[in-house]
Parts: sequence; structure tokens; C-alpha cells
Amino acid sequence: MTSCPIRFDPLSPEQLADPYPLYARLRREAPVFYSEAHGLWVVSRYEDVLAVVRDTETFSSQNAVRASVRPLPQPVLDVLATGRPMAPTLTDSDGQVHRRLRLLVSKAFTPKRVAELEGRIRENVDALIDEFAGDGRADIIERFAWNLPMFTLTDMLGIPRDDIPTLHRWSVSWLRILQATDGVEELVTRAHDVVAMQRYFMDALQSRVGKAGEDLMSSLLDARVADGEPIGHEEAMRVTINLLIAGHVTVTRSIGNGLTTLLAHSDQLQAVLNDPDLVPAMVEEILRFESPAQGLFRTVRKDTVLNDVAIPAGAHLMVHWASANRDERVFGGSDVFDVTRDSMATHVAFGKGVHACLGAPLARLQLKIALPRLFERLPNLRMAAGEDTAVRDTIFFARGFKRLEIEWDVKDS
Ligand code: HEM
Repeated sequence: MTSCPIRFDPLSPEQLADPYPLYARLRREAPVFYSEAHGLWVVSRYEDVLAVVRDTETFSSQNAVRASVRPLPQPVLDVLATGRPMAPTLTDSDGQVHRRLRLLVSKAFTPKRVAELEGRIRENVDALIDEFAGDGRADIIERFAWNLPMFTLTDMLGIPRDDIPTLHRWSVSWLRILQATDGVEELVTRAHDVVAMQRYFMDALQSRVGKAGEDLMSSLLDARVADGEPIGHEEAMRVTINLLIAGHVTVTRSIGNGLTTLLAHSDQLQAVLNDPDLVPAMVEEILRFESPAQGLFRTVRKDTVLNDVAIPAGAHLMVHWASANRDERVFGGSDVFDVTRDSMATHVAFGKGVHACLGAPLARLQLKIALPRLFERLPNLRMAAGEDTAVRDTIFFARGFKRLEIEWDVKDS
């Protein structure tokens, strides 16, 4: 008897609903798997994922956020050509280019700056909840999960809150361009957004030149490292956009994933509500169990062999964080959601190695504040009844919700 071929198709309805059985099969039967349909190698075991991200000589971060490296249609390229190049930024650069950028950004995006945001994040969480607490029902993605990281980031960057809806639309367009699965007309519209976003941040940076500002963009312009050039305007624009996109879509997804996972495991939720000291481990477990960035990409620089499989130079490869995070060789009972698990140092939801997430402390801080507060402020929080209340987003390498309706009890006044 032959088993059916493995079909890796993250956007299919079954895999959007529950991809984990497929990942388990990949780890078991084809840990280094070639998907003909996507022209993509998928690396699914923990040890192999680490081997890839640690060997930056063989595996370049070029195209790290592009699910497909097929060229974009010409009309889309024509629009993008009216803007600035989208790369290199931190995520998709290598070697000295990456080291210099990372050092410069680290000077501005400091642990102190993140820690100072705590009070502000608490206020923002409550202000957002105040707006819908009396309604008894809300799409929590629309009303809360997008807005919270956007408030945090616009506070840090020193840009007006009124611009959030536009910045959010532009960020989605940026991702749709990277994914490149939409029709040409749609992609052309998205490309116009990308160019508009670049202009917005070039102007924002220009307006800070020569002024002693405190915000993150001003600090980026002021940052200096011993043996490197200060950041240029175009570089600073790309880094700022990188921070804004990497820093909001991921936190949004974690909030939705966190709520659904906790609601599906009421004993674990109860354990955290009874013992707030479990909150930090709960956040790590949510990230391990339902990783928002399911996987990112690498370009193979030279013919190589990984786990006995030959991979040719030029190959496009997906390091599958979400599968690695369920690897039974590393995490006992890997499919069990356990808020007492200690996997902070082990899980790869924030990546590993030189490109490991720069914003992890900021993501953790927001999730530690937001998730318990939602349960505290919205009594008997539950999934809303009805059709289509939980709709998944369709980004190839990410896992999260586009819409998530929840309900709670509202006291009569
Ligand atoms: C739960 C939320 C988050 C998750 C799951 C996440 C995940 C990741 C992952 C997996 C990487 C590694 C990329 C690679 O190896 O190719 C990464 C890199 C990065 N993240 Fe995050 N991230 C989150 C939040 C944030 C936040 C809040 C920020 C900043 C505001 C941020 C900024 C970045 C940047 C700049 C990089 C690139 C670092 C480099 O290449 O040197 N992320 N993130």
C-alpha cells in the first residue's frame, strides 16, 4: 500500500484550519521536503531549522520574507520603480550589511526604550477596551489586536495616531506584494501603496533632520557605530517600515491566536487566571503552540546537503518555525498546550541566530499586558456564536485571524 503524496499547501482550507498533522507527517517522512507546486524546500525538524539559520555562509537571508521568488508582473514592477528599492533591510540582508544595520538599529531600539513603554501600553490597552466593553460583542482583531501594536509603534516612532488606518492598509499591501498571489490589478494598487508608504517615511525622516528629537526615527538618524557609516535616509526609511510591519502584524496574530488557544483549553486559562505568575510562560507557550510567523525563507548560496538531502544552489527554502516548535524530539508532548512549560530559551517563534527577532521584548511586553487584561475586563469572554465568526488570514507564511468575533457578559447599569 502506498500512502498519498504529501501536499504542502498552507493556503488550502484544511491546512489553514489545522496544519499540524501535515507538519508532523513532514517531520516524520520528509523532513527536508521539496514542494513542486511552490518551488520551495520546506525544513520542518527543529535541529535542521537551527542548522540552516546558523549556517549563514550557505543559507542567505535574501528574499527572507518572500514566499515566492517568481518575478512580479511587469505593470507591478513599473509602479514599484517609481519608488525606492524595498531591500535591503534587516530581515533580508547578510554579512556586514546586516551587522552594521543591526548595530545601528539596536542603538535606537534599546531595552530601556522598550521598558519605558510599559505604562503607556497599559493605558492603551485600557483605552481600547473602554471603547467596546459595553457592547458585549466585538471583532477583537478589528477593535483591538491591530490597534494595540499600532499605538505602541506610532508612540515609539512619534507619528500621529490619525495615520494608523492608512499605515495599516499600506502594511497589508506590503505583505500582499511580498506574497504576490493576487491578480495584477490588485497588485498594482498594492504597489501604489508601497510607494506611498516609502514617501511618507522619507518625508517623516527628512522633517527630523537637525532637530533634537526623542522618538525612534530621530534616534535612528543619530545612531553611530565605531567602524561604520551612520544610517542613510533611504536605509532608515526601510528599517522603519521593517519595524512597523514586523512589529504589528505579528503581535496582532499572537493576540488572536492567544485568545482562541486559551478559550479552547479552559483548564489552562483557569490556571493562569488563578496564578498570574504563569503569564510569562503562557505567552511563550502561545507563541510555541501557534507561532504567528509559521516560517520564513532563505536562499541557498551553494550546493549543499541537509539531513542527507541534496539541495542545489539557488534553491528557495522555508525554515519552518511552527513545525520545529511542535517537534516531538525537542518538546515532550509537543501537541499539548501547557502553560507551565518552560520553553522560552528553546522555542523558535522569534527565530534564532543573527536574525533572531529584535522586537521580542516588545512583543512579550504587549502580550503579557493585553491577554490577561482582556479576560479581566470582559467577564465570561467566549467565542461568539454564529457563522464565520473566526476567519483566518491568508498569508502563506503566517498564522492568524482576519476576523475573530468574541462575546462577553455586560452588566445592566
Ligand atoms: C509575537 C510577535 C513577533 C514574532 C512571532 C516575531 C517573529 C520574528 C522572527 C521569526 C524573526 C526572524 C526572521 C528570520 O530569521 O528570518 C523576526 C525578526 C525580526 N523581528 Fe520579529 N517578531 C515579532 C514581533 C516583533 C516586533 C514587536 C518587532 C519590532 C517592533 C519585530 C521586529 C523584527 C525585526 C526588525 C526582525 C529582523 C531582525 C534581523 O534580521 O536582524 N518583531 N521576528
